[in-house]
Amino acid sequence: MDRQVVGLIILLNAIAAGVLYQRFHDHPQVQLLESRALELYHKLLPPSQPDRCGALKWPSYVITSDHVVFPDGVRPGAVFIEGNKIVAVSENTSVDSPHTLNFKDAVVAPGVIDVHIHLNEPGRVEWEGIWNGTRAAVMGGVTTVIDMPLNSNPVTTDVVQLEAKKRAAKVKAWTNVGFWAGLVPENAANHTLLGQLVEAGALGFKSFMCNSGINDFGNVGGDDIAAALPFLKSRGVPFFVHAEVVSSVDSDPAADPTAYATYMATRPPKFEQDAIRLLIEKLDADTTPAAPGFRVHIAHLADSGSLAMIKEAQARHPLTVETCAHYLTFSAEGIPNGKTQYKCAPPLRDAANRAALIAAVASGAIDLVSSDHSPAPPSLKEVDSGNFLKAWGGISGVQYLLPATWTALEAAGGSLSDLVRLLSEAPARLAGLGGSKGRIAPGYDADLVVFEPGSPANTSVAVNLHTHKLSPYTDVPLKGKVVAAVVGGELTSMYGHLNKKPCGRLQLKRDD
Ligand SMILES: *[C@@H]1O[C@H](CO)[C@@H](O)[C@H](O)[C@H]1NC(C)=O
Ligand SMILES: *[C@@H]1O[C@H](CO)[C@@H](O)[C@H](O)[C@H]1NC(C)=O
Ligand SMILES: *[C@@H]1O[C@H](CO)[C@@H](O)[C@H](O)[C@H]1NC(C)=O
Ligand SMILES: *[C@@H]1O[C@H](CO)[C@@H](O)[C@H](O)[C@H]1NC(C)=O
Ligand SMILES: [Zn+2]
Repeated sequence: MDRQVVGLIILLNAIAAGVLYQRFHDHPQVQLLESRALELYHKLLPPSQPDRCGALKWPSYVITSDHVVFPDGVRPGAVFIEGNKIVAVSENTSVDSPHTLNFKDAVVAPGVIDVHIHLNEPGRVEWEGIWNGTRAAVMGGVTTVIDMPLNSNPVTTDVVQLEAKKRAAKVKAWTNVGFWAGLVPENAANHTLLGQLVEAGALGFKSFMCNSGINDFGNVGGDDIAAALPFLKSRGVPFFVHAEVVSSVDSDPAADPTAYATYMATRPPKFEQDAIRLLIEKLDADTTPAAPGFRVHIAHLADSGSLAMIKEAQARHPLTVETCAHYLTFSAEGIPNGKTQYKCAPPLRDAANRAALIAAVASGAIDLVSSDHSPAPPSLKEVDSGNFLKAWGGISGVQYLLPATWTALEAAGGSLSDLVRLLSEAPARLAGLGGSKGRIAPGYDADLVVFEPGSPANTSVAVNLHTHKLSPYTDVPLKGKVVAAVVGGELTSMYGHLNKKPCGRLQLKRDD
């Protein structure tokens, strides 16, 4: 078929309003026409539901592919979508409906759920905001994000502040958005206030065991944790912890601050180990019965040496652990002098540690992978001086969460089902959304990602949607090209194009 014929077919189908959308992706020259087809949907079809935000105006439609990641394995399949729900699934890919998107050999999987992202709104939108952060997320196949209670200003430690976040996200979010609330020394013992935050929609709580870098988000000590545990356990909500206890280290005052090793030496694995040990001690000491939903969740584990201690404690306590895509992608040896885009806390460690983390992710010893997307303006990243000790710690990368995780996992022999467990199923359970998200099954929310696991992701700055483009992932060869994302039944991105309007919904209720 030549271009004109293909174009005419697309046009006729669109005008006929049967809107048969075929995937001509095998023919690269036709990709332009594919995006043109989306424009046609907007221009030619009188929107039957003007409030709909998605590209398609169909009240129901079907997505088919040769590789659908179902909860029990990968098979050819059809996913029937009505409104914001998956209403049926089938292994018969010959579907009668003219409202069918056939993605052929691309993988159709549950949308990625990133449980650890800093959107910083309100108050620090110049670092990152809901609009840009969730656009980048959905371009990378992330359909739900759970926002951290810092580095917005003010931080999310009471209901007034949570309401302000809800108002902003309601109109600006391209993905579904949920919220963690902050558990700080000022509210740790006030179970009334913590309860009000859950009532208002917080899915759980986040604490720091070391300085957070944000003055109004103080770190908790052992006594604060002990004071909060009876509430968290009886209420059945997760306790998300930045587990590093900072003690003094012998550092060389003459060491070069633009050398990565100088920074790494200031945050040894001992800090993570001491914090995790303290958390386990506090769990051992508390006798409150735990309701379903409660767990202590160790954020962004960087030290593989802590895994044995975690495993031992998991026999007694609901304890889960996360690492981030950057710990699976980069290691200290490869970081050039002055490149502060690699600075995060806990720090990227050596290559042997990275290999051990990848193995733990593949085996299931680590429950899930997040982005911990936490950018800051170039001045705060000390881009000019390249000073690792002064630079803000935080890596920008939600747009690359899926390809970076897949690249590491696949090289270690992991499967597509493993990827979905790490990026969708386990994150949904942590956030209390396991009954509605993270699976392709009838009754579940129609949040989907379509991607080509063997094709290169585009990591060039040209298509980076984050507010700040500085990222260690730039131009890194990663596998896993995101082709489309469906958010709550609405086709939100396709072939690098985004809708005109955001379609995200607030996630304010745990379903466990
Ligand atoms: C698959 O569905 C098509 C269309 O509904 C139908 O014609 C066909 O018989 C089905 N195939 C099988 C094996 O059920
Ligand atoms: C706990 O928080 C509630 C509600 O936010 C507040 O009214 C109360 O004074 C606080 N209690 C203490 C002891 O600080
Ligand atoms: C990434 O996308 C940009 C903009 O569309 C394009 O110019 C570039 O060639 C792409 N790079 C890769 C590696 O696909
Ligand atoms: C989004 O990012 C762009 C590019 O960096 C920036 O110009 C714009 O101000 C950002 N928008 C918001 C709402 O933060
Ligand atoms: Zn974080």
